[in-house]
Amino acid sequence: MKKILDMISQEVMDAFAACGYDAAYGKTGISNRPDLCEYQCNGAMAAKKVYGKAPILIAQEVVEKLQGNPVFEEAAAVNPGFINIKVSGSFLSDYLMKMQADETLSVDKAEEPKKIVIDYGGPNVAKPLHVGHLRSAIIGESIKRIERFAGHEVIGDVHLGDWGLQMGLIITEVKKRQPDLVYFDENYQGEYPQEAPFTISELEEIYPTASAKSKEDEAYREEALEATARLQDGVPGYRALWQHILNVSVADLKRNYSNLNVEFDLWKKESDAQPYIPQMTEYMKKEGYAYLDDGALIVDVKEETDTKEVPPCIILKSDGAALYTTTDLATIIERMELFHPDEIIYVVDKRQEMHFTQVFRCARKTKLVGDETGLKFLGFGTMNGKDGKPFKTREGGVMRLETLISDITAEMYKKIMENHETDPKEAEATARLVGLSAIKYGDLSNQASKDYIFDTDKFTSFEGNTGPYILYTIVRIKSILNKYRENGGSTDRGKILPPASASEKGLMMEIVKFNSVIAQAAEELAPHKICSFIYDLANAFNRFYHETRILAEEDRERRESWITLLGLTREVLETSIDLLGFSAPERM
Ligand code: ARG
Repeated sequence: MKKILDMISQEVMDAFAACGYDAAYGKTGISNRPDLCEYQCNGAMAAKKVYGKAPILIAQEVVEKLQGNPVFEEAAAVNPGFINIKVSGSFLSDYLMKMQADETLSVDKAEEPKKIVIDYGGPNVAKPLHVGHLRSAIIGESIKRIERFAGHEVIGDVHLGDWGLQMGLIITEVKKRQPDLVYFDENYQGEYPQEAPFTISELEEIYPTASAKSKEDEAYREEALEATARLQDGVPGYRALWQHILNVSVADLKRNYSNLNVEFDLWKKESDAQPYIPQMTEYMKKEGYAYLDDGALIVDVKEETDTKEVPPCIILKSDGAALYTTTDLATIIERMELFHPDEIIYVVDKRQEMHFTQVFRCARKTKLVGDETGLKFLGFGTMNGKDGKPFKTREGGVMRLETLISDITAEMYKKIMENHETDPKEAEATARLVGLSAIKYGDLSNQASKDYIFDTDKFTSFEGNTGPYILYTIVRIKSILNKYRENGGSTDRGKILPPASASEKGLMMEIVKFNSVIAQAAEELAPHKICSFIYDLANAFNRFYHETRILAEEDRERRESWITLLGLTREVLETSIDLLGFSAPERM
């Protein structure tokens, strides 16, 4: 559906044209003086030079043409040449009715749908999910949903880290503890056991132990490096052990992500790119892109215009081992082969920006992708604690995602039980939904690239710019609709009358922004735009609600119109939060 702002602009442009001016001057925007008007056109000022006429005269002529136009309630020429506009109530209510009849609530599907791969989550095998990975999951999931809603074909890939030194470290530590395992017997010919030689909690202890040892003990580190190389070379016992590590970890990761309402289409991993590495390095050498430098194979990626040094891309280390860069480049080849995406979006900590600059430049220079393929890095900032330092547990340790979720859920549970007596089971399920909204909204309402402070008290509050406030508003609407239904009313889609009050018009003016907000969020990969939209919408609704006795209204047509308006508000809010990756309970 056409955006309301474009429709209004069109009317004003037609009026400029009808007065003999270039229609382009009629472009109209949302007013930055809402106390004076709703929309505003400043074209007459710009037209002054071309037509040699006082802007106010131009504005007056145009306004004259707009009189009687049913789109407008008021159009006024104001010194020195503004055109101040108020839109008519019937135009708004017509638009809302078209919205409610539209399957996607007025959002047009992309004319040229793109195939997009989103690389997000990016957890590392055998390391517990901690808050450092939270942002990637939350932001990536939301962007996936937004792009899909905008009509694109989106493939979300978790891109597990399973191929680096951390694997060698774990293998080395397992070997130290259980040297007799068949995985380490080079002459072993039989089948490897089905059962993993460790549990997830053992694994989570093994990795940090190994990592700490390798920092103190050079020989240990050497062993781990060698184990990494042997794994990458395909030594069967190492591969079998690695498969166990993978299985145990992935089961745990899936449980964690599902608690976050995050769902990946693909569970691909760094190691899946391994088969592409030999041909890739051969190709880069043969074409003269890559050369040996001190034993390492590198590709230069610096450009003349660089203000900061961009180091060369290391394709292979001198011992032949693949690096993070190597797997990322090979993964691009793999993705091009499997999916031919128009765009790959990486949702990763912004501290990795240089890595992606190198990878993208290298991929373009070596023609792994053509100009038609977009490579986008969406770098996000750090989630900090109230002290402004990266978020930690109270004891100062790394906060596990599970712990964060259960802490917030417990906080919400307490609040819900304080608010009113509820069945504890229901309260628990509700607390989970509301807790998730607190975490996700708290994150997404900030521009992704910025650092933000995770403030539990603020994020879990039912008031202010928070997830729980949004859910509270939705639940309020649901409860009115339920009550209306219980009293025999029908809440099916119906007629919406022009607004009867300023607060009702205010609510309508927010709802109609939906399609342009979604288009912007999709274009700019910016979920925070949806957050600020629903916050404004929730505020406008609550203002209307406090001023209006909806169910007690005697005039049936008016009452039904309000119920319909409430239904639409609920739909827009629930669709929006679904795009952010959370949902609302029935009661709270
Ligand atoms: N596993 C990486 C990390 O923990 C993130 C992976 C991001 N994606 C990528 N294609 N490099 O830092």
